[in-house]
Amino acid sequence: MSFEGKVAIVTGGASGIGEAASRALAAKGAKVVVADYNADLGAKVADEIGGAFFKIDVTDAAQNKAMVAFAVEKFGRLDYAVNNAGIGGPQDAITEIAEADYLHLIDVNQNSVFYGMKYEIPELLKTHGSIVNVSSILGVVAAELAVCYVAAKHAVAGMTKAAAVYYAPRGVRINSVHPGYIDTPLLQGLPAEVMDPIVSAHPIGRLGTSEEVAAVICFLLSDEASFVTGSQYLVDGGYTSV
Ligand code: NAI
Repeated sequence: MSFEGKVAIVTGGASGIGEAASRALAAKGAKVVVADYNADLGAKVADEIGGAFFKIDVTDAAQNKAMVAFAVEKFGRLDYAVNNAGIGGPQDAITEIAEADYLHLIDVNQNSVFYGMKYEIPELLKTHGSIVNVSSILGVVAAELAVCYVAAKHAVAGMTKAAAVYYAPRGVRINSVHPGYIDTPLLQGLPAEVMDPIVSAHPIGRLGTSEEVAAVICFLLSDEASFVTGSQYLVDGGYTSV
């Protein structure tokens, strides 16, 4: 698999799954725009992989438009986009969740994917490129206290399918990946009594790694997945099969 001559955007590319995807794409030859609101980490990753950093708050539509313009100005084209930036959000019964917290989570995890695709697709139509949106196992099944996150991640899967159907005959493939619990900073700080049952809910018996998710992202972006669109790829150690 070679991405020589290709240009990619990865949102949330400063850390975790996005960082691993940025590094994997660059290792296969792509020029990568690492887009994140963490400028310190994002610029460091971009430097290390010979890419370019773009500071973005993905909840802002205009900044998503500017991110795509930056990629094209910097590297001349856009072939791939990984809409990955996300946060964990409130963990509580729906009756206890503040409306502002719900709306913020939807902004970061859901609306960002709409804005990203809206501005990436016009460039991808020119190159017959490909998008991977990062959803979650919680875009397929639920967790009782993650109502906002579950809502947003199901929406990401739905948007992916709808956009994939429209753009399939127009030469752009769009898929979603659905990681199980992955050992990234997103999970840091959770106490053992929370983590232990999470780990044992994966039949493989451990958390996943960012690199294991990045490998599937690269496959879906690549020509090796040329007949794959509108698909929901689980990378979950068997979590949703139980
Ligand atoms: P992470 O916390 O390591 O990385 C997320 C990145 O997104 C960070 O660099 C952060 O600065 C950036 N980000 C957050 N909000 C942003 C905003 N408004 N604008 C720009 N950048 C922003 O998290 P991780 O685990 O790598 O998560 C990546 C994606 O994978 C998220 O969408 C998450 O929901 C999803 N995911 C993660 C799982 C896990 O267990 N870690 C499981 C399933 C899905």
